[in-house]
Amino acid sequence: MGFFLDDKAALTEKPPQQGRRTAARAAKADPNAVGCDVCPLKKHWADIDTPKMPISGNLKDPDVLIIGEAPGEWEDRKGVAFVGDSGKLLRETLPARAAQRCAFQNVVRCRPQNNRTPTAAEAHACSIHLRADIDHLPSVRAILGLGGVPLDNLVPELPPKSTITIVHGIKMPIAIGERVLWFFPTLHPSAVLRSQGKFGEGRLMPSFRSDLRHFFRDLDIFGKPTIRKFNPEDVIIVRTEEEAYGYIDKMRHPIAIDFETACDIKGVAPKPYMIGARLLIASMSDGETTIAFAVDHPEQHNDWAIDVILHVVFKSSWIAHNLVYELTWVI
Ligand code: URA
Repeated sequence: MGFFLDDKAALTEKPPQQGRRTAARAAKADPNAVGCDVCPLKKHWADIDTPKMPISGNLKDPDVLIIGEAPGEWEDRKGVAFVGDSGKLLRETLPARAAQRCAFQNVVRCRPQNNRTPTAAEAHACSIHLRADIDHLPSVRAILGLGGVPLDNLVPELPPKSTITIVHGIKMPIAIGERVLWFFPTLHPSAVLRSQGKFGEGRLMPSFRSDLRHFFRDLDIFGKPTIRKFNPEDVIIVRTEEEAYGYIDKMRHPIAIDFETACDIKGVAPKPYMIGARLLIASMSDGETTIAFAVDHPEQHNDWAIDVILHVVFKSSWIAHNLVYELTWVI
């Protein structure tokens, strides 16, 4: 849904998450107003031990930069990131020898009062330093972001509903200066600790462990990250069945499929069994060629469209951004 054609609709489907919105606003407000002089944390420097905490870990040839939110009490006292309880959990959960590949830094370098989550404005102010740290480490190929703060700060273009609990474990390419790096979001270890009950490990621990294991296992086989700029003008609007098959038959597999849908009920993702449910538009892409055609659109109805969709669904390998959703419309 909303993958190719109507990102705005997808954005407004649910109330946007506050953090992402504020982060985007902070970045837009004045992209030049960054650095310590505009940071609200500067006035608390006298109350903490390590303002502007430096990056740590492997600073010679790391291929991974692990980025947290902000230093906690222990980190501030010792002057090193990830040495308190959540840092200990992180280091213990990293696969064997993984720590040697990593440098460690936070989005915000000064400890916020009472260990609160840093605000979007603080993250934005500190972003100049984080980006400088990344620039100084040309060997870094991938960033492991812990929790929502690195996600909001480094991938502000994600839709607000893509919170850390939804997107953790999914690698994505991000541009930092001239470079494109892999960004891999995972849960923050302090959230994992908080999920711990009286007995055994926390509810979030299996996901956290699995994310870290997969990330370090797959890192060596990740190809080079690339960012494909998507230009809506490149979508070919197809008007006949012959034209549709003409493009589809030449597409490389897997073919990405996306549907635009509607129903009479406001505020829900339309499902085929809902009142007034309609499949408005289908789009298909192999990354090079992207086509879209009306299915049951108020301005155009194509009798052939469903056959074309079913042909692709049953005769080719295909993927979808939200596979379960697309499947409900074709099965
Ligand atoms: N939490 C973080 O996000 N960073 C640290 O350095 C320690 C705890």
